[in-house]
Amino acid sequence: MIFAGWLPAEAKDCFNPGERWNDTSGKHINAHGGCVLFEGGTYYWFGEDRNGFVSNGISCYSSVDLYNWTRIGIVFEASQAKDATTGKCTLERPKVIYNDMTGKWVMYIHWENGDGYGEAKVCVAISDKVEGPYVVSDVFRPNGHDSRDQTIFKDTDGKAYHFGSTDMNTNMNVALLSDDYLTTENNPVTETKILNGLKYEAPAIVKRGDTYFGIFSGCTGWAPNPGHSATTLDILGYWEPLRNFAIDNGNMTTYRSQSTYILKVAGYDNAYIYMGDRWDSSDVGGKSEYVWLPLSLRSGAPTVKWYDSWNMDVFVNSDRFVRIAAPVDGAVVRILDKYSDRWMSSKGNGFFIDDDNDDTNVEFRLESTSNPYVWHFIENKSGKYLESMFGALILSEGNGKPTQDWRLELEEDGCYAIQCVNDNKVLSVSGDLQLASTPLFMIKKGAAESQHFGLYFDADKYDYECADMFSAGYRADNLDKMRKQADFEASAGIEETLGGYGVKIVCTNPEGITINSETDTQMTMSVIEVSSGRRIFSDNVVIVSGKTSVAFPGMLTVGVYIVSLDNDTSHIISKIIIY
Ligand code: GAL
Repeated sequence: MIFAGWLPAEAKDCFNPGERWNDTSGKHINAHGGCVLFEGGTYYWFGEDRNGFVSNGISCYSSVDLYNWTRIGIVFEASQAKDATTGKCTLERPKVIYNDMTGKWVMYIHWENGDGYGEAKVCVAISDKVEGPYVVSDVFRPNGHDSRDQTIFKDTDGKAYHFGSTDMNTNMNVALLSDDYLTTENNPVTETKILNGLKYEAPAIVKRGDTYFGIFSGCTGWAPNPGHSATTLDILGYWEPLRNFAIDNGNMTTYRSQSTYILKVAGYDNAYIYMGDRWDSSDVGGKSEYVWLPLSLRSGAPTVKWYDSWNMDVFVNSDRFVRIAAPVDGAVVRILDKYSDRWMSSKGNGFFIDDDNDDTNVEFRLESTSNPYVWHFIENKSGKYLESMFGALILSEGNGKPTQDWRLELEEDGCYAIQCVNDNKVLSVSGDLQLASTPLFMIKKGAAESQHFGLYFDADKYDYECADMFSAGYRADNLDKMRKQADFEASAGIEETLGGYGVKIVCTNPEGITINSETDTQMTMSVIEVSSGRRIFSDNVVIVSGKTSVAFPGMLTVGVYIVSLDNDTSHIISKIIIY
């Protein structure tokens, strides 16, 4: 039989990030800055439909497998939102959510008048059906603020929030939407500026348990830049900056892409896809491509690894390793580096970080000691003890020496600084890198950033109590445990160790902050109240060798504070908790 004319495009069974992606009719998918919803067993992809730079409207495609997309068409026509004066409009970064109260689908779009980016408004459109057509409802500046790159996020309690780059892209404004989602609340209490001064854009938000994560880009127009991420338990509160979520080679350009959305994949508990755009400013609609990659949250920080090609199989094992609630005598654990999402691993000699790999990832059996915060790590196959010898990591027979004693210093997010009792050095990823095969070694505490490790177990093999690591209660418990650990160690007379910079921030009472230092120096100190994001102190302080007290009576009430000390060579950050 001879086919004349149309032939079905070959069905795809994988993602090829950055490569040309055609719809089921063989045409380039035209849906940038988009989002994907799952409704009634079908995925709907909304995005910018453009010819070159010119906006045609918002397109929609449907799929059942996320690989193969069929064009539904333009579901919101640009002609509906033309500026009266210019007769044009530019429509970017459409995001859609469903309002349970009104039964309407609500779309927020970054709106400009077609001449540059000076209007900085949102366009809101609504529909009775997910696949449209969408009808314009309003064009406005959220609570009067300029708003460029934007997204909306629907929370588990039905409330929804608008995130928009504001103050000329300097800050990110988070504003509660009205109950019908059609406007912002116009109430300053229901909005906050977050990540102030960081110049983030391209926001995408996801929530796991009680914890929100945001990913962002920097602000360099169509050109790609390093990714950013942040987290909070309070969507209108303080967002703690994390690090570049892209961790492999190419991370300084986020794999030549810019974030637009985090898609939660149906059918898995914890499978997420990073959706990014690989812009081509010479033909935004026709030549820009898509970079979709798996996004992991299991380490407590969003991480995105690079794959030339991948499919849903990467998610099959996504819940195999779970964080243990607390170290237990005899438990078999693996050690996960927070910022690379990679495991402490070994291939005979030396230790490095590696992807999930049963051949290289090291399993340790925990053995308690007389100090509840000090443990032995016994390699499970050989029965040998992890030991730090002059800064190198080795496995050797148990010898009862402090070189095999490991102090676990708990952090608020449940990770640990893993510190050798003999020399007080901590486990660290060399050069602060995240790539597989990067060596692990011991370093002075505070000297590098990659010193946060979680203890996980293989849920296919073991059944220990797992940490509810995304819950608010977990973090509160950890703060309490941190205080108990500090009290225990102080009463046991365990000597304080200064960080790698020879400076440590301590808080002895609500009246002020104490700085312990090895040398005389001068630094800028800032204190930020975490709950409000308010900077309550910022000044130069003269630090003398020994203890220096900086008093600001009455300003530290019960709560959590971030204290930073900076000069030309050092950047020291500490979290202070007042009970
Ligand atoms: C980017 C933004 C894009 C588009 C572009 C225009 O920063 O993320 O959505 O607005 O600038 O230069």
